[in-house]
Amino acid sequence: MVERLKEAIEKARAQRAQLLAGGPAAPAPAPPRPEGASAWTALQPIELSPGRLQRNRIITLDRSDPAHTTFDVLRSRILKAFQDRGWKRLAITSPTKGCGKTFVAVNLALSFARQPDLKTLLVDMDLRAPSVARALGLEMRSSMRDFLTGSLAPEAHLRRLGDNLALALGGARVGNAAELILEKRTATILAQTIDRMSPDIVIYDLPPMLVNDDAFAFLPQVDAVLLVAAAGETRAGQIAACERLFQDGTAFLGVVLNKVEERPDDAYAYGYGYGQDQG
Ligand SMILES: Nc1ncnc2c1ncn2[C@@H]1O[C@H](COP(=O)(O)OP(=O)(O)OP(=O)(O)O)[C@@H](O)[C@H]1O
Ligand SMILES: [Mg+2]
Repeated sequence: MVERLKEAIEKARAQRAQLLAGGPAAPAPAPPRPEGASAWTALQPIELSPGRLQRNRIITLDRSDPAHTTFDVLRSRILKAFQDRGWKRLAITSPTKGCGKTFVAVNLALSFARQPDLKTLLVDMDLRAPSVARALGLEMRSSMRDFLTGSLAPEAHLRRLGDNLALALGGARVGNAAELILEKRTATILAQTIDRMSPDIVIYDLPPMLVNDDAFAFLPQVDAVLLVAAAGETRAGQIAACERLFQDGTAFLGVVLNKVEERPDDAYAYGYGYGQDQG
């Protein structure tokens, strides 16, 4: 298993090097489309069901759960690091499955969306197991493949929550995810979408790092990465293995310790903590 993963990562590394050596892909010719503010108003608006959100532990929208403050603190730290360095694109990943990547990505995105002067784009790049739509209680008919291959324009695929959160989500799992992630066209379409929407921050919900090479292959398209670990499940060696993979040139912001056991005397015991790894 470890050998297979190593091989896959070596392959992805070689493909990445090739991709980078080839320089940025030429943008596909596209008809004139709305940009900036009008690109946001053109998106189909959605509404979320509070009951569904609560069941799925999405706590940062109505904020009745005091734990939402933990996400607000995380948001402020990330925002500072991003603004200081001129970054825009944040990846959320974990060593293995089920640590809480989607839980962190969605709560963080909704926390960002509460900042009226910031525009946030949340993208479900866990193509083999998309789950952001489900976490938000949404049904998506179009797939991320349609969007990432350009057969569906961003303004037809993206949804808008309120004025300043855009969502790129998929309903169904995408076949050949590894190839799609590595295609130049995917990078081009994401870059064009960011250009057109001009979000202040883009949050990518990625697959886990140590299960296949999808997340690793995507790292050149992000500015920084946040690792979600599950208390009692994630081992120190797995975090170290991820850190080694980030050394290839991705800024590692730190580890969010999720699923920490709840203690009745702890107001912030919803289940996560944040350790910053670099200043
Ligand atoms: N802090 C938490 N406390 C309790 N349960 C949690 C917490 N965070 C996440 N969960 C639950 O754990 C499960 C996995 O969470 P989530 O889907 O966010 O993980 P993931 O890393 O995105 O998983 P996958 O690798 O399958 O995409 C979900 O049922 C979620 O509701
Ligand atoms: Mg997930």
